[in-house]
Amino acid sequence: MSKDHSETTEPQHAPDAFESHEMPSVIWSHPAFRLFVNSVVAVSTRAVDTVNAMSAEWCTPVSIDPVLLGVLVGHTRWTHALIGESSQVGLSLLAEDQATIAHDLGDSSGRSNDKLGANGPAWFSGPILGLPLIEGAAAHFECHVVAVHTVGDHDLIIGSPVWSATTTLAKPLVYHRGHYYQLPEPLRKPES
Ligand SMILES: Cc1cc2nc3c(=O)[nH]c(=O)nc-3n(C[C@H](O)[C@H](O)[C@H](O)COP(=O)(O)O)c2cc1C
Repeated sequence: MSKDHSETTEPQHAPDAFESHEMPSVIWSHPAFRLFVNSVVAVSTRAVDTVNAMSAEWCTPVSIDPVLLGVLVGHTRWTHALIGESSQVGLSLLAEDQATIAHDLGDSSGRSNDKLGANGPAWFSGPILGLPLIEGAAAHFECHVVAVHTVGDHDLIIGSPVWSATTTLAKPLVYHRGHYYQLPEPLRKPES
């Protein structure tokens, strides 16, 4: 298993008994890291005359008051450099029918591939900052970057949204163990 988010592994059945994977140090290939469940956002940028977008599973709200969003962007991503130039970031929470877009935006770098060009997904310019946002996504945010924290080989980019929109009927795409899923029906809540 590499460090790349897009690596695919086959779903595995749970072990009969809890497995303790003892090893001298915790490494990224440890099975424990494959159990998280995430959505996928398209992290988009506009810098000078360049637009770009990459997929990110590590994105979440991080504060209610003020409302803030956090997304982790690897230092080697072109997106990382572009956010550094513009101090703005667009987030499109991809919908359950947008797995191909999630794959394509995470499979190559904008340094060598015009991912938002003629062969890319349809997008529109956000109304406040003009950031490229993916058509048909479940939710959209345009953000000013208000803080950047280095965490290992990624930076935690904190965005303060100045505009958001949602398609209320659209469900978010789910990413787990390198596979894309649709949300199942909710479980009945336990009686209290
Ligand atoms: C489903 C998926 C989720 C990903 N999640 C992240 C992430 O949270 N953070 C990150 O830095 N890279 C993530 N990646 C990898 C980047 O999307 C990938 O390296 C991309 O090519 C970077 O593009 P850029 O160089 O144009 O910025 C993910 C890839 C996929 C397919």
